[in-house]
Amino acid sequence: MIPQNTIDQIIETAQVDEVIGEFITLKKRGVNMIGLCPFHNEKTPSFTVSPSKGIYKCFGCGNAGNSVKFLMEHEHYTYPEALRFLANKYNIEVEEEQRDEASLEEEKLRDSLYIINEFAQKQYTNNLIENEEGKSIGLSYFKERGFRQDIIEKFQLGYAVQRSTDLLEKAKAKGYQVDLLKKLGLVTEKGNDFFRERVIFPIRNLSGKVIAFGARTLKSDKKIPKYLNSPETDVYNKSKVLYGAFLAKGPMRNQDECYLVEGYTDVISLHQGGIENVVASSGTSLTPDQIRLIKRYTKNITVLFDGDQAGVKAAFRGIELILEEGLNVKVVLFPDSEDPDSYLRKIGSESFKVFLAEEAKDFVLFKTQLLFQESKNDPVKKANLIQEIVTTIAKIPEPIKQSLYTKECSTSMDVNEQMLINEVNKIKRTTLQKKLKIDEANTPKIDGITTEDHSQKELNANEVDVDYQEKDILRLLLAYGDKEIEEGITVTQYILTELQEVGLETKLYKEILAEVNTTFQKEKKVLDNSYFLNHPNNNIAKLAIEFASSPYELSENWEKMHEILITEADSNYKKDIKSGIMRFKLKKVNKLIAENRIRLKELKPDDDYMTILKVNKKLEEMRNQICDILGTVVY
Ligand code: CTP
Ligand code: MN
Repeated sequence: MIPQNTIDQIIETAQVDEVIGEFITLKKRGVNMIGLCPFHNEKTPSFTVSPSKGIYKCFGCGNAGNSVKFLMEHEHYTYPEALRFLANKYNIEVEEEQRDEASLEEEKLRDSLYIINEFAQKQYTNNLIENEEGKSIGLSYFKERGFRQDIIEKFQLGYAVQRSTDLLEKAKAKGYQVDLLKKLGLVTEKGNDFFRERVIFPIRNLSGKVIAFGARTLKSDKKIPKYLNSPETDVYNKSKVLYGAFLAKGPMRNQDECYLVEGYTDVISLHQGGIENVVASSGTSLTPDQIRLIKRYTKNITVLFDGDQAGVKAAFRGIELILEEGLNVKVVLFPDSEDPDSYLRKIGSESFKVFLAEEAKDFVLFKTQLLFQESKNDPVKKANLIQEIVTTIAKIPEPIKQSLYTKECSTSMDVNEQMLINEVNKIKRTTLQKKLKIDEANTPKIDGITTEDHSQKELNANEVDVDYQEKDILRLLLAYGDKEIEEGITVTQYILTELQEVGLETKLYKEILAEVNTTFQKEKKVLDNSYFLNHPNNNIAKLAIEFASSPYELSENWEKMHEILITEADSNYKKDIKSGIMRFKLKKVNKLIAENRIRLKELKPDDDYMTILKVNKKLEEMRNQICDILGTVVY
């Protein structure tokens, strides 16, 4: 653990333009710096760095944060890693706080596992160069497959010899613990090398550390498993790793495209053919974590299928997960019994690139056509097909893409477009309702307001609205907190008092308000927006950045939603705050009135009719008062 005051010092010292300038070229533009965004593909710069605020924001893709966040995003550092990088850059001494025993032990263990894996990798690689068996069997196998020397080195390929304790003995001689070798799956419980007489494919994590191995037999005996793989360990979580990702990071980002293949050898062959934006799922179906890993670099995935139809349909489910993450998916089907590796060797890398470009089909359309072929003269199958397709389309998060697909699919399946749209909407509605129910169950009731009488839909609309109101109040609080709103009363005091009765609803805003309140009560200090820019809670920092970097974004939303204009001018903040609070209160009172009316309508035996009536009257009075102040008409 890095002590909080050191963290503060690091964040204060770090110059965001210097830090980011190490990785991308920035040019001065007014008080800011601009450059090409490293997080999405663009030709005109929309990546803006504000040295005075210590933050960056891309107006193209929305990525934003401070120096620490940049390093976490760009270099994939963890939070402490990013802090240490900065501490090092600015010569700030980091004294590790007494960490709890357990986490220290864990880190020590992980470090040892990395070291032993690296040792094993070097050993296997060395066998290819120096060991007779390794040279004559392992290396000649790779050469026969056509792998070039530079590619063998790039992928750190190796060979595990036949002798049953070869690795074990060498590891012992180096002083490595046998327990750890066992833990890594390099040595069996009985004390023999796990990988023997196999060529070795080291698997690396995103920072290039060896975390596991895949090992292919060279025998054609069908009873022997073709590949043996390391077990899951403290450094290897199968579902989060993609083979080749370390080498593909830059290329995926540069080409804004990722090729997904099944096997280790496919990745290697494609590299050799000059295609480096490629990763392998290693024969298993894709997990959400793996998809998100790719998503950090590009939103476009092309899945390359081995040439057998059964495999393709089995992969549909995995691909739908990719759609749900909002990525664009294309698929390429290879000719019978070919995989990307064999086909590339067969036709050569230039023709292969042409093949990829020509054969890549949009997944949704591909699926539609494939299923359509099968259901041609069978109405029951066709009905199922339509259900399949609309379910797939409903999973896509962007409405524009959805409508493109419903159009395309209605043409290719020859069904009415409106019918497809209705079906898609039906599925979306059910999914949304399920989600709302879950959210509802997880959200504590606020200020005794129960919302169970509302239909889900109304509730949703209402909440969105309140969200905007609350957001604007918060924006004003953080912008003008230390200014006076009336003689002797600061904006902070005013808003805290006003919100005491009603309270905010949105969790994130409530957290911020609570922090402002506590600091104000305890230290009489006013927290402003710049304080929240570096907040450890990423969502809070993000909001502060939104407030800081695009002052008119919110106002535009307001204009659109309420057809009113909010000015940013200093002279108007007093009015804005007062009317903002009043509008917010009006919303809340309206909500209470609506709920109370429902209670009146659906009276239960032990409800006190008179009290409910009185409450109703009181609420309506309140509403009229608020409206008087606001000058709005009640309808
Ligand atoms: N795989 C595995 N265990 C197996 C078979 C396959 O882990 N018993 C994984 C490996 O990651 C392999 C991938 O599934 O790379 C694809 O399998 P396959 O197509 O059979 O292997 P290739 O990589 O194509 O190997 P080769 O070209 O040498 O046959
Ligand atoms: Mn193959």
